[in-house]
Amino acid sequence: MFSDKVVENLKASSAIRAMFEEGARLKKEFGAENVFDFSIGNPDPPPPEPALEAVRRLVGGSPRGLHGYMNNAGYLDVREKIASEFNAASPGLGLDAGHVVMTCGAGGGLNVIFKALLNPGDEVIAFSPFFVEYRFYVENHGGRLVTSPTHEESFLPDLGALEGAITGRTKAVILNTPNNPTGVVYPRVFLEELAALLEVKGREFSSTIFLVSDEPYRDIVYDGVEAAPVFSLFRNSLLAYSWSKSLSLPGERIGYVALNPRIEEAGLLWDALVFANRSLGFVNAPALFQRVVLESWGCRVDVEIYKERRDLLYSHLVGLGFSCVKPQGAFYLFPKSPLADTEAFKRLALTHKIILVPGRGFGCPAYFRLAYCVSIETIRNSQPAFEALARDAGL
Ligand SMILES: Cc1ncc(COP(=O)(O)O)c(C=O)c1O
Repeated sequence: MFSDKVVENLKASSAIRAMFEEGARLKKEFGAENVFDFSIGNPDPPPPEPALEAVRRLVGGSPRGLHGYMNNAGYLDVREKIASEFNAASPGLGLDAGHVVMTCGAGGGLNVIFKALLNPGDEVIAFSPFFVEYRFYVENHGGRLVTSPTHEESFLPDLGALEGAITGRTKAVILNTPNNPTGVVYPRVFLEELAALLEVKGREFSSTIFLVSDEPYRDIVYDGVEAAPVFSLFRNSLLAYSWSKSLSLPGERIGYVALNPRIEEAGLLWDALVFANRSLGFVNAPALFQRVVLESWGCRVDVEIYKERRDLLYSHLVGLGFSCVKPQGAFYLFPKSPLADTEAFKRLALTHKIILVPGRGFGCPAYFRLAYCVSIETIRNSQPAFEALARDAGL
């Protein structure tokens, strides 16, 4: 009676939401302070004060036209500001407001990108583990998600495997650095090798292979590591950014897509992105929050907050014998399940009121994800539960 595809995807995709619901149920039964919910990437720190101040000022003053329609690409002054930031980071890039579209977060941005790029049957490659929604975003627009593995010891993509996965139907490769769920930040040398491979394969198939860089965690990096700017490395690149994480505003749905000015027919692609933003029904990104990000420009969540949480949780788990790559960005850990059956490990964790997400939905069933964007008290208070879990799991 309903869409077969959606009903099928509902079954396959509910892991994170199911764990989130399970967390809500346990909190009701045992009290929120007794449940350790690491299921979802909803930031615990409040938005930074300059952003909140901008909200208050704008809503209080209610400037004329604040709540109206605008160009489907978003406000010109906001797009100009974004363009100037790219040009400052990569002199000579020549990016202007006509290369930027304001979107409903990175999720909205990726849908706009795939609608603008894909023909039926086109393939998009993601590296596993990958953000669960990619498959649905690609399929929304008639594409097919193809996965390519990463190396187990580093979670860096296996370029040999990627080379084998690229076909004449490959339209794009999705890059997500800093990465959800691994927290890995891809080094510049790796990105240079990837760029060279895409050039070679594009020539081999006489096609353009776009690099779609999904960057909602770009500003959340630790230990002096930097997420390399993709526009200077990949000619055929588009970037989706979001303030969901960097300003702790995921419910407000504000982000943008930028495209590399060096793309052939970049003007036509921008028109296609703007059309997609409109015809998907977003129409434009939220007006109020476009102005909020402009008026609080440059302000970001204090990364030290997340670093403290990463250090505490990571060192505790590794001390207990869990095997885990140390994240250099974002706010997730992706340890290996100590039990061969990760679903059984998830259930065991639930008996200790720890909510985690099995890696199957991310394309890596032997692992599990913990989102540590929770309060520091939750992490501290969870320690005895993790100790008991490690014991029960035979560590
Ligand atoms: C890797 C990745 N991409 C995209 C998104 C979508 O973020 P939003 O649409 O809130 O900007 C998320 C959200 O968690 C994410 O982790």
